[in-house]
Amino acid sequence: MKLLEIQSSPRGESSDSISLTKSFIEACKSDDTSIVVDTLNVWHERLPEFDYEAIGAKYKAVKHETMTEAESNVWERIQSLIQRFQNADRIVLGTPMWNFGLPYKLKQLIDLVAQRNYLFAYDGKQYGPLLNVEKAIVVYTRGSRFLEGTPIPPSRFDHQTNYLDFWLQLVGVRDLRSVIVDNAWNQDRQESEVSLAKGKATLERLVEWFLN
Ligand SMILES: Cc1cc2nc3c(=O)[nH]c(=O)nc-3n(C[C@H](O)[C@H](O)[C@H](O)COP(=O)(O)O)c2cc1C
Repeated sequence: MKLLEIQSSPRGESSDSISLTKSFIEACKSDDTSIVVDTLNVWHERLPEFDYEAIGAKYKAVKHETMTEAESNVWERIQSLIQRFQNADRIVLGTPMWNFGLPYKLKQLIDLVAQRNYLFAYDGKQYGPLLNVEKAIVVYTRGSRFLEGTPIPPSRFDHQTNYLDFWLQLVGVRDLRSVIVDNAWNQDRQESEVSLAKGKATLERLVEWFLN
């Protein structure tokens, strides 16, 4: 089984989202030794800018037009990122909430790989998925606790889960589970530890589902 692990935090060893996805993957590996993990950390990957050349390449690829050398170069990098998604049987993605949404480097990865005729099809009327990923887990960590009926209800403040869950399903993740870990950066460190331990336990319960 090929597992694509996407890390979205720049905090390395201190990262809550990375330590949660790592421990989940370790638990999976101890149950299934055939797992091969490809780790893509959006901060270490030196992602190309999604700039003039990248957009030129995107449009020319759809229209099958000849690219300039600069466009071809960035398109090659984009293709190698796309391949990592195409190779995956499973995805495990961890991300912190940044300003109620996603860290910009994760959005940069999405903008790079979300290419028509590679990750999704579009016939002018509807979208169809082109990836073949049976299952994925997304771990969302946040500093605060978002609860309906409080001054920070998720219905107004959460712009993290909706978009990423939607996007993963759009491109072809068939069965997606999201694990939300609120309170990860609380003034009361003990409360954070309790939240993180709960998240870890939830993930452990998902190992069997994920592998079968
Ligand atoms: C730039 C930045 C923006 C953040 N924005 C939010 C936010 O809008 N809401 C929230 O609850 N926590 C926010 N946080 C806190 C993180 O989401 C939280 O600490 C998370 O657990 C960090 O995950 P990590 O340890 O994997 O980096 C922010 C943290 C940073 C560094």
